[in-house]
Amino acid sequence: MKFFIDTANLKEIKEAQELGVLDGVTTNPSLMAKEGITGKNNILKHYVDICNIVDGDVSAEVIATDFEGMIKEGEELAELHEQIVVKIPMTKDGVKACKYFSDKGIRTNVTLVFSAGQALLAAKAGATYVSPFLGRLDDISTDGLYLIQEIREIYDNYGFETEILAASIRHTMHVVNCAKIGADVMTGPLSSILGLLKHPLTDIGLAQFLADYAKGNQ
Ligand code: E4P
Repeated sequence: MKFFIDTANLKEIKEAQELGVLDGVTTNPSLMAKEGITGKNNILKHYVDICNIVDGDVSAEVIATDFEGMIKEGEELAELHEQIVVKIPMTKDGVKACKYFSDKGIRTNVTLVFSAGQALLAAKAGATYVSPFLGRLDDISTDGLYLIQEIREIYDNYGFETEILAASIRHTMHVVNCAKIGADVMTGPLSSILGLLKHPLTDIGLAQFLADYAKGNQ
């Protein structure tokens, strides 16, 4: 399972990269705004800064909602750096743009996916990644994990190569459950990755080992 971090915060991206388990970054316009990154040039520069920190894929989202606009913006984003994956919304024009980019060998991440039918369409259009939003479904008392399970089954039935990128991860158990049902990638906050480290018996055991060592080596 690949681990992506869902943020535009360079400090957090560096911390995750230094842990040695990071495979990529996803961003969206809200995450960029949260970091105060505004204006086209600053936004493009920020994507390059992120690419220079991580080794893996960096999703950069188009703002245009029409086909021509998405193509223009997506091509510009893809030219920025070889690690860029063009993030496109799940709309009619988005599906057309996904097919266009896929035919041109430009990698894509189809975002804002909330149903198995949308995920099927994204795979048919040749998406590199499809992003079902787990946490946002859970927020409205709908089982987000079940959606990922459905997509896994559909993709396996037909051998689609589109990778399932479990997005809108909120906590560590989302990560563990996504791994159990076979999501290819998860993207979440740094805390959802760091939470995997924690177990009280590890802390107690380590303290005991160190105390016993200290007793015999005074
Ligand atoms: C996906 O790529 C999105 O950036 C993201 O995971 C959205 O998560 P949220 O529901 O926490 O905003």
